This record gives sequence, C-alpha cells and structure tokens, in this order.
Amino acid sequence: MDLKKLRVNGQRLRNAMEEMAKIGATPRGGVQRLALSDEDKKARDLFVRWLEQINLECTTDEMGNIFGRRPGKNADLLPVMSGSHIDSQPRGGRFDGILGVMGALEALRTIHEHGVETERPIVIVDWTNEEGSRFAPAMVGSGVWAGKLDRDWVYGRTDVLGKRFGEELRRIGYQGKLPARRWPVHAYYEYHIEQGPILEKEGKTIGVPKGIVCLHWYDVYLEGTANQVGPTPMEGRNDALCAAAEMILNVNALPAKMGGNMVATVGEIQNEPNSRNIIPDRVHFTVDIRSWNDDLALRAWEDVKRDFEAIAKARGCLIRIEETWRVGHAPFDERLVKRVLDVAEALGFPSHPMVSGAGHDASYMSQIAPTAMIFVPSIGGRSHVEVENTNWDDCEAGANVLLHCLLRSALERAESV
Ligand code: GLV
Ligand code: MN
Ligand code: MN
Repeated sequence: MDLKKLRVNGQRLRNAMEEMAKIGATPRGGVQRLALSDEDKKARDLFVRWLEQINLECTTDEMGNIFGRRPGKNADLLPVMSGSHIDSQPRGGRFDGILGVMGALEALRTIHEHGVETERPIVIVDWTNEEGSRFAPAMVGSGVWAGKLDRDWVYGRTDVLGKRFGEELRRIGYQGKLPARRWPVHAYYEYHIEQGPILEKEGKTIGVPKGIVCLHWYDVYLEGTANQVGPTPMEGRNDALCAAAEMILNVNALPAKMGGNMVATVGEIQNEPNSRNIIPDRVHFTVDIRSWNDDLALRAWEDVKRDFEAIAKARGCLIRIEETWRVGHAPFDERLVKRVLDVAEALGFPSHPMVSGAGHDASYMSQIAPTAMIFVPSIGGRSHVEVENTNWDDCEAGANVLLHCLLRSALERAESV
C-alpha cells in the first residue's frame, strides 16, 4: 500500500482513551492514577493486554518501565521508540501522559493491521512515575533507564504515608527482572497534550517544541515551637507556618524579581500538628523552579534560599533544605524537530514551534538519543486538573503525525537520523 495514505483509526484511539479514563475516574471527570497505586496497576494490566493483542514482545524492567517491541526487517538496526506515562496527578486529567501511550499504541495497531514492514524495530514504552507527585522526583523511570538517576535512591523514596517506592513497585507486581539500563535508540518521539494556552490562542493543531525547560525541585523543612494558641503571647512565638507563609510569597515574587523568563511555584505543603488551636511547629513545603536558562534558575534559587534563611532566623525556626532534583533544560534534536514540522505540513495540519514548560520523559531521553515531541492543544490551556480536555479530532491529528514520524524513522536504513 501507499504508506503516505496510512492513517490511524481515530475512533479506536478514542475508545482506548475512554477505557483508560475509567481506571481511577474521579467524580468531576478527571482521573487519579498515582504512580504505583492500585489504579496504576490496573491500567498497566490493560496496557500489557493490548500490547499482547498485536503480538508485541512485552518486557518490564526493574523500574517497572513497560516496553512492547515490534521487530523490524533488520534486527541489527537501532529501534525507534515512542511512549509516555500512565500515571497521573492527584485529581488529574484524562489526557496527560496517557495520550502519548495510547497514541503510540494506535500507531502500532495501525502499522500491525496493515502488515507494514519497517526496517527498524519500533518500541512502545510506559515510563514509571513520570509525575513525581506521589514519589518525588518526577521522570524516575526514564531517569534511571537513561543512567541519570540512581535506582536504589529512587527505590528508597517515600510518599506522604511513608511507603517506599521499591516496596510499592513490588506490591503491584511490576518490578521486572530486566535491568533498567538504556540501549541505543535511533529516535525517540513523545506525543503529549500541550498543557498550556498557546496552541489554542494561535489556532494551531500541532505544537512542535524545540525542547523542555529545566526543572529544579527543593524540599524545605521548618521546625518551630508548638504551643497552646490562647495563652501564648504573640511576641516570641516560633510559628513554623508563618515562616513558611513568608517564604512562599518570596518564591512567588521570584520570577519578577529576577527579571527573566522563569516560573517558580510552591505546590505542596504539610503542616503539623495541623490543629486550629496549636501553634504549628513542623512544616514541609516544596519549591519548583523552571526556566530555559539553567543559570537563571540556579541564581534565583540561591537568592530565595538566602531569604529563607533570614526569615527562619527572624522567626526563631530551624530550617533544613533538601536540593531534591535538578534536570537541565533539554534541547531536542534539530533534525527530528524539523521532521515533526515537515510531517505536520505534509498531513495538512498547521503547526507552531514552541518550548515545553512541562516536564516529560523526553527530557532524559534527549540526553541519550535523538528526541522530539508532538503537542496537541489543551482546551482553555488547563492541565493537571480534572477538566483537562483536548478535542478528539486533535488527538487523532497528533497520532497521525506520530505515526508518520515513526514510519519515516523506522524506514531509514542509515544510522544518522
Ligand atoms: C510534569 O507533569 C511536570 O511538568 O511537572
Ligand atoms: Mn505528562
Ligand atoms: Mn503531568
């Protein structure tokens, strides 16, 4: 057949997405499928069943990353890879991550049903714990696989209930035997929703990021003095929550203060003992700083860290800071980025070059293999929320772009992209 005319089955993609959205469905139309939860397990089981239905060789590594391999004509040629993640944020959306996995599955189902023979193997992947919401940091499946994070350090990370990553991975039955060790990859494509407002505003169907901003994560622990709120005078209190409140506002003011292109967020806080009539003595909060300019992000952190120390001192609180995770900004492979633009044009979809402000497994993959991403619009620019939404036509368009990027790469005989 004329491969140029090959198209995915949009209805089948939608059915797969809707089937997955039932797993961990929330009352307001989102999903909650936290990494290594029962819901994550259930979705993985379904995913594996679907991989087996199209005869993919299915393997799971010691990080719980799931791979489905379709052989090419020439087993000596490096594979083309595509995928994303099945886990979600708490009260997250139905598209983040799962669209990239189901989009790659739909591309492979299409290739399978038409009996297309590619030169290279094609591997679909579900990376473990991309979100980093239950177990920080994010992108640990791809991070360990790419050799950028230490497996045992990740195994030892705990959630808010004190459960360990390694034990939860075993509990859900997805700690495979295969070492989480990278193999050479010819090209990696990750299909994802944009998670921002730009494509909708520009009226474009396909977003083509040139890369991903840096992500820097920190954990701040404060210790003050608990006491009865009534009899304890205001003077001389060591209120850990008040110290945190001041610090949080400093984080929020950081981008304006640094005068650069960056964002800074405190998204998570734990306050103890969390009683209305006890002065809080223990607070933990997170800091997330992102920029295309790694140096600016680092300078911003050093600046706000000095503020934190001064605030803690003034309020008589002890402060401990953990520099939890840093991943540098990730420029993608120019030839693959151009390929995504070319394929979008060939298929008649208007496209838009951009930068990804969201983190993706493509960030670690770009450090070890030629990498590019394909974005489709997020309605209202909303993501990591239950109302996260993308038109089904756009989902289908992105999957078609992915299909043809995969085909072009998998039909290449030469090792340079
Ligand atoms: C991942 O979803 C991130 O951008 O934090
Ligand atoms: Mn995602
Ligand atoms: Mn996400």
